[in-house]
Amino acid sequence: MPDYILRTHQLSKIYKQDQILRDLNLNIRKGDIYGLIGMNGAGKTTLIRILAGLIPSSGGTVELFGETDPRRIEQLRAKIGWLIETPALYLNHTAYENLEMERIHKGIQDRREIDKVLEIVGLKEAGSKKTADFSLGMKQRLGIAMALLGDPELLVLDEPINGLDPVGIAQMRELLLELNHRYGITILISSHILTELAQIATTYGIINNHTLIEELSAEELNKRSKQYLAIKSRPVEDTLKVLTTKLNTNRFEVVGSTVLLYDYYAESGRVASVLYENGISVEEISCKGQDLEHYYMGLLERK
Ligand SMILES: Nc1ncnc2c1ncn2[C@@H]1O[C@H](COP(=O)(O)OP(=O)(O)O)[C@@H](O)[C@H]1O
Ligand SMILES: [Mg+2]
Repeated sequence: MPDYILRTHQLSKIYKQDQILRDLNLNIRKGDIYGLIGMNGAGKTTLIRILAGLIPSSGGTVELFGETDPRRIEQLRAKIGWLIETPALYLNHTAYENLEMERIHKGIQDRREIDKVLEIVGLKEAGSKKTADFSLGMKQRLGIAMALLGDPELLVLDEPINGLDPVGIAQMRELLLELNHRYGITILISSHILTELAQIATTYGIINNHTLIEELSAEELNKRSKQYLAIKSRPVEDTLKVLTTKLNTNRFEVVGSTVLLYDYYAESGRVASVLYENGISVEEISCKGQDLEHYYMGLLERK
């Protein structure tokens, strides 16, 4: 049985008359980078606030590290680092001072923890700067540093990439991968943009219409959002030879009499001419499949 760090069973939330979350079943395994995806207003922050114990659920169960007893859950939350929306920073204070207050708040004895987390998030040089002068990306990374105090096994990050510029996004991705690979931290990260997490998440949970409509591995997602060229040509054997020797690819398969080519998706014209120049008779080359964005839109419409 897989080792689950966090699960929910039929979790629901009602605000006044409004059903915000309904029968939500989330399954996060140890080692995952779990991408929680849903449009603005889908309920991601509400779910995370319930997990953090900031608001009560209206029904269902939260399971942390295999336990469901509410008193145990309260204790086990100490093994989790949280960054919900934007970090609560004292802007007149330095990064170091903000971390110092968080250290005391969490009852952590060792002051050196602060230098350690500053180093991990790449803010060692900026530690003595006032956070008012920080870019959004730096503030988010400081928020992660605060969440990292106390050596959490799981980090829960609510839209940490939202609003960052491309450099900030790249730094955030790199940091999350490092936390996961090097420090073995499991990560739950929410986003309203599926493609934003495409290079890093290992599992995806998609929230729509108040519930989790899909939970799938990155591998499965890649399979479902594959794009390829469908080539009808003769002879098939020679076609494959030309693809291998002239276009340097072996990312193809033959289905019936059609060759499916997983490279050169945007260059069908070039593929056609190379085949033609090498004596292949090409009947048809067409672009098939769908990209990630289209897969996602299709999913939202279906359910
Ligand atoms: N305190 C609240 N009282 C009433 N409705 C709320 C409250 N907080 C959030 N909501 C509603 O819950 C829904 C989900 O919001 P939220 O969890 O913030 O979504 P997301 O984080 O995915 O953008 C929205 O329709 C929002 O208006
Ligand atoms: Mg939100």
